[in-house]
Amino acid sequence: MTEQTNHPIRYSRLGYAHLQVTDLDVSAAFYEESVGLQRAASPDGEVWLRCSDKPYDLILTKGTDAGLKAVGFELESDAELDKAFAHVEGLGFAPQMRDAQANAQRMVARSFTFANPDTGLTVDFFVGQAVASEPYRHTVAKIARLGHVVLNCKSYADAHKFWVEQLGFAISDHVPGRIAFLRAWPNVLHHTFALLEGPDDGLNHFNFMVTDIDDVGQAMNRMKKANVPIVFGPGRHLPSTSIFIYFLDPDGMTTEYSFGMEEIAEVGGREPRELEPKPEVLDTWGSIPDPRFGKGGKIVSVHG
Ligand SMILES: [Fe+2]
Repeated sequence: MTEQTNHPIRYSRLGYAHLQVTDLDVSAAFYEESVGLQRAASPDGEVWLRCSDKPYDLILTKGTDAGLKAVGFELESDAELDKAFAHVEGLGFAPQMRDAQANAQRMVARSFTFANPDTGLTVDFFVGQAVASEPYRHTVAKIARLGHVVLNCKSYADAHKFWVEQLGFAISDHVPGRIAFLRAWPNVLHHTFALLEGPDDGLNHFNFMVTDIDDVGQAMNRMKKANVPIVFGPGRHLPSTSIFIYFLDPDGMTTEYSFGMEEIAEVGGREPRELEPKPEVLDTWGSIPDPRFGKGGKIVSVHG
């Protein structure tokens, strides 16, 4: 059984996803105009996009291959960051504390970074992120937050060990050996991260949660009009009850809007459920994913 009681780190939330894209201008325009993020002031070489009161929720940098470069999680407190550093160091992952200059550039008080030894994916933990100088303004969609990041995992067992057993993410629902929807414990959102067993390590998709079902319906027509491929949905996920639509960014990476999500409290929350491996788990409305769904992004290792 994979039920767990081990939570060595107290997470606050998924802070950001860092993507490598092949054309910064094209991707930035897509995320701004079609998805509804807001461009923000950013250091040289990075494009920052926002959907919250923070300075960035999505970071883009340019590179040869499109893919996921890093995920950042905010921890609950300064003390938690020190605890997490010692824990990650104890696991042998050689975390590096970022210096004051690097933290100032990313507008956080303190942070450290390390890599998943199996996939090379960079994981950043931070605390004390600044608030943006102006509020996020909705444009084409009422985005509430960056919702989650989902990975394709060549070795599901290794990924499960890393994220669940070692970093203490909590299973909300799973198909053992194949799919795990994970909470950044004790964050109540049903999943801010998920693992899918797949032929190669890579980005499956990342998600923006919207506040209105109309945002999903309007996206369908907006994307069609702009010739943006819709690769799954609209539909409804069985485990989280979210209503979703997935589409491709200019590099073919899969992006999602979803509306609604179960919340599971730290104290008294329900136990993880074991789901049957059937298509209805992904969509109770019966849509079938396009072959391009979840295949467009590599893991881009930055730690080398
Ligand atoms: Fe999703």
